[in-house]
Amino acid sequence: MSPTVDTAAPAGDAILRRQRIRESAARTYARSFPIVPVRANGMTVEGADGRRYLDCLSGAGTLVLGHNHPVVLEAIRRTLDGGAPLHLLDIATAEKDDFTTALFEALPPAFAARARVHFCGPAGTDAVEAALKLMQTATGRSGALAFTGAYHGMTAGALAVTGSVAVKAPLPGGGEVTRLPYPYPYRCPFGVGGERGAELSAAYTERLLDDPAGGVTAPAAMILEAVQGEGGVVPAPDDWLRTMRRITADRGIPLIVDEVQTGVGRTGAMWAVEHSGIEPDAMVLSKAIGGSLPLAAVVYREDYDGWRPGAHTGTFRGNTLAMAAGAATLRYVAAQGLVERSRTVGARMAARLAGLQGHLPVIGDVRGRGLMLGVELVDPAGTPDSCGALPADPALAVRVREACLQRGLIVELGGRHGAVLRLLPPLTITDEQADAVLDQLADAVEAAARAQP
Ligand SMILES: Cc1ncc(COP(=O)(O)O)c(C=O)c1O
Repeated sequence: MSPTVDTAAPAGDAILRRQRIRESAARTYARSFPIVPVRANGMTVEGADGRRYLDCLSGAGTLVLGHNHPVVLEAIRRTLDGGAPLHLLDIATAEKDDFTTALFEALPPAFAARARVHFCGPAGTDAVEAALKLMQTATGRSGALAFTGAYHGMTAGALAVTGSVAVKAPLPGGGEVTRLPYPYPYRCPFGVGGERGAELSAAYTERLLDDPAGGVTAPAAMILEAVQGEGGVVPAPDDWLRTMRRITADRGIPLIVDEVQTGVGRTGAMWAVEHSGIEPDAMVLSKAIGGSLPLAAVVYREDYDGWRPGAHTGTFRGNTLAMAAGAATLRYVAAQGLVERSRTVGARMAARLAGLQGHLPVIGDVRGRGLMLGVELVDPAGTPDSCGALPADPALAVRVREACLQRGLIVELGGRHGAVLRLLPPLTITDEQADAVLDQLADAVEAAARAQP
């Protein structure tokens, strides 16, 4: 039955009502942000009600150039005007050839020099599936090493290596997933915090893998995020990443780094692996590489290319517009120094957030890298754990998100308990916009904390 249209209500309200009636109960962002964007430009989104918002969600980190950047629009228009076929499975096109060139130019040179790319179905999760499958094929093994707090997507293999127990699934091929502790100084899995927690994580990993009675058969791969995003914006220390690289290399375990959210300058390096200088065996890419259109790929060392034709196929692997928009985005980010900009503006924003922590006791922790920032909200009246971390306050986080929206700021939550405010503004954010974001955020946190039930 089609819902009746309420002609008296503003258009946005009617759309929201129809969405509630017609779309699935699994709606997510639509619940957090009951708005109907009608126009968007850069960091600004305009709702059907005429209200304007500063967008710090950026399509979950996708829009590194913000909405409708002229360079992206120009690439799309040029492609459309040129009459290129828009959908071509994985058949060669000039746009795909150019995107591949732009991607290989942007990748760490030593990695790119001996890399192969496989275009996947257009979502990060499919590229995660491809990476796991590739390494299963290459090693003849089935299991995987994955980390607490990890998020890798919503298809079976990606869910298997994701941390959240609410959505777990088994690994295809019957492989076991061994869960390892990801370093998280504020809520340290070892209860010690700081650098020591990361050292213990590395020592535990190494000893577990070498223990003949440790219960872990040789895995097909280790998969990790250099900065966990959905897990609550938790950057891994560079030393820890280097140790993971050594541990995996010494034992012939391919290392997959999931750069779906961290790629294309987000963390203040073109790729998050560049902070530590490690060279993974495979990188999983999506979100920003499509320049705001759907695109996903796995890039890997050519010696792992033991796939048969059709080993990881899919209809939508040749999105011409995404290739054009993505190539333009990769080149623009590099040419305009936006990676450096992400680093400097991100550091300035992080410093101001850390300053807020001084007089807002509900801010338990501020962390992040580049323009991937997280603010963990806590209950100051709660009992601290052995590292001094206070209990997470997800209810407060929801109130802060609402208060942000009322003030014209789009900020989503993440983290183990859904209590981390996640800032993912475009790399094109101006100094004035960064100040406005922080002013509004501070005001929202203060107001929501005052309104504590
Ligand atoms: C690190 C990481 N990997 C994989 C994914 C899954 O990507 P998608 O939602 O495009 O399937 C995400 C999505 O947020 C992610 O953050």
